[in-house]
Amino acid sequence: MKVAICYYSRHHGNTVRLLEAMAQGREDVELFDVAGQVDFDPARYDVIGFASGIYFGKFHQSVIDFARQHFPVGGKTFFVFTGGASSARHSDAIRAAIADRAPQVLGQFFCKGYDTFGPFKLVGGIAKGRPNSADLRSARDFFDGLVAR
Ligand SMILES: Cc1cc2nc3c(=O)[nH]c(=O)nc-3n(C[C@H](O)[C@H](O)[C@H](O)COP(=O)(O)O)c2cc1C
Repeated sequence: MKVAICYYSRHHGNTVRLLEAMAQGREDVELFDVAGQVDFDPARYDVIGFASGIYFGKFHQSVIDFARQHFPVGGKTFFVFTGGASSARHSDAIRAAIADRAPQVLGQFFCKGYDTFGPFKLVGGIAKGRPNSADLRSARDFFDGLVAR
């Protein structure tokens, strides 16, 4: 099964650390930084996942725009994200962006990520040390379960 994970991870690289743990040692996974020069052909993948730090309550706008532009009708997907705080609504906007393609959502993974945005910087940030090694293991387990289906 060929998997693409299209991501944005700029605040502290928290999200991409999860993705690297998920992809380590696998040849069937490709990571695409949507903020870079991306030459992306969705037809090459069985599953296209999206990943991001949470910015103002949602996936970064660049991932949302990328998903809207590239995600195929009836495609399989999953979501990976990190935020300073957890919220059941963090993935609402990315889900809404592709809802018209009738996606098959295989799952989602969230963990806290070190956050020094705005006033949090004054107190040394929140969710210090996250993701930690247990988070990386959990992300790997999530992904192993997903591709084993
Ligand atoms: C501009 C900005 C806005 C943010 N907004 C939120 C937010 O609304 N909710 C939240 O839980 N975390 C928020 N965060 C914290 C990030 O989601 C968190 O640090 C995340 O792990 C960053 O991921 P990254 O390092 O992969 O970019 C924000 C961070 C920045 C820089």
